[in-house]
Amino acid sequence: MRGATLLLGAALLAPAAPGQAESPAVNYLLHCRGCHGPEGRGSPGTVPPLAGLVARYTTLPEGRVYLARVPGAASAPISDPELAALLTWIVRRFGPAEAVARFEPYSAAEVAAPRRAPLVEVDAVRNRLLQQLGVDPAY
Ligand code: HEC
Repeated sequence: MRGATLLLGAALLAPAAPGQAESPAVNYLLHCRGCHGPEGRGSPGTVPPLAGLVARYTTLPEGRVYLARVPGAASAPISDPELAALLTWIVRRFGPAEAVARFEPYSAAEVAAPRRAPLVEVDAVRNRLLQQLGVDPAY
């Protein structure tokens, strides 16, 4: 039983062969988790939490684009299909559920242009979006 669980864990986390796409969970582990944490809680005052918030951005058209442009996501060394799958995974994983219920998965085509238009004014865009969502920018 324990062996089977370990095997399953190894299969889920095994890196893909070169040129093959990684699963979103592996990409999160490799490229995001160091800052955003295993539970998406971030680090108070430095890295905002994804948990309980990230899906809310996707209820606004500009918010959907924001997630693909935010530097940590946009510049990750992964392909467009991988980024689309990763953002979809993050939104579903970290919620909140009421926003996930209305969420349509990201496509590779949708993230391709925004991720190549780096977001320089991150704080201004983030604060404006949070204001529209009625969320305290200190969240
Ligand atoms: C070096 C630390 C770091 C890494 C690595 C990182 N991020 Fe971030 N992330 C941040 C910070 C800081 C912010 C706040 C906006 C900013 O200043 O860039 C942020 C914001 C975000 C946001 C918007 C959340 C909000 O409320 O504004 C998303 C979505 C996000 N990151 C996704 C990712 C993804 C996906 C990855 C991995 C591919 C990733 N990040 C890797 C530090 C990081």
